[in-house]
Amino acid sequence: MSHLAAAEILRNSPQLSSLIKSGEWVERNCDQHGAYKAWVLGGEFKETGCPECKKVRSLVEHRANIEAEKEEIQKRKMQEFMESARVPKIYKSASTKQLDGYVRDKCVEFLSNYRSTESLNMIINGGVGSGKTHAVCAMVNFILYKKIVESAFSDTVLFETWHDMADKLRRASSLDSVEENPIELYKNVDLLVIDEVGGASLRTEAQIEWFFRIMNARYSEGKNTIITTNLNASQLEKTVGTRSYDRLMNGSSLTLEIKGKSRRQAIPKTL
Ligand SMILES: Nc1ncnc2c1ncn2[C@@H]1O[C@H](COP(=O)(O)OP(=O)(O)OP(=O)(O)O)[C@@H](O)[C@H]1O
Ligand SMILES: [Mg+2]
Ligand SMILES: [Zn+2]
Repeated sequence: MSHLAAAEILRNSPQLSSLIKSGEWVERNCDQHGAYKAWVLGGEFKETGCPECKKVRSLVEHRANIEAEKEEIQKRKMQEFMESARVPKIYKSASTKQLDGYVRDKCVEFLSNYRSTESLNMIINGGVGSGKTHAVCAMVNFILYKKIVESAFSDTVLFETWHDMADKLRRASSLDSVEENPIELYKNVDLLVIDEVGGASLRTEAQIEWFFRIMNARYSEGKNTIITTNLNASQLEKTVGTRSYDRLMNGSSLTLEIKGKSRRQAIPKTL
């Protein structure tokens, strides 16, 4: 009886296979890689598989592990970037893919000109709940993702509400150290998002002056600013001051007016 025939009988007979104490080599055939020698182990009938298949399997597993690890690192980095850009929690999953029609077109226009146009600003205007913050965060998330994919791309991004900014500008004159001074951050960050411009206006001369210095520095350095507001043009000009408004609305600036009622009440409430 050949080794192969004996191994076959043992394979089909658990009682006999358990009698085997030491292993032996048998000829096997792989559909993909042809003949190979398998080592038949004693005890439970087990044998080694095709070594080429094993190589392929471990290469595939290795690649899958690397991919999974890469994805995990990207995910962690994205979270880190969103934290440091201060993207609000509910907009962390906002994506440009969720935008449609003219809103999407305008956001895509901004994103495609983002690094090639100096002082590319955008003013997003619309009613309560129309999707302004969502749209701006979708763009921020896209830019942060690009920063991960293109490691050479190192732009810094900051999301700030107008309310917080106005508060910080009010306290700015009393802040001595440069590290603590938010003005430096507002001036230097590559993309500054100011959300919800309106409500609290810049009441003091000092606040208006600080805001102007920020906007002037940003304009002079070709940095990009996006604001969202539910004010119209003349109200906006009055709120931020004429000189700041003029720099915001420079020749490269884009405007987007989002129409429609609030998306927060998509499901009508019964009274
Ligand atoms: N394109 C979209 N796809 C999915 N959800 C959206 C979209 N646009 C807005 N939303 C959701 O609708 C709600 C209102 O949108 P958002 O907060 O952006 O409005 P807003 O214009 O900033 O309102 P407000 O003026 O009150 O600040 C949010 O929960 C937001 O996540
Ligand atoms: Mg908003
Ligand atoms: Zn094989």
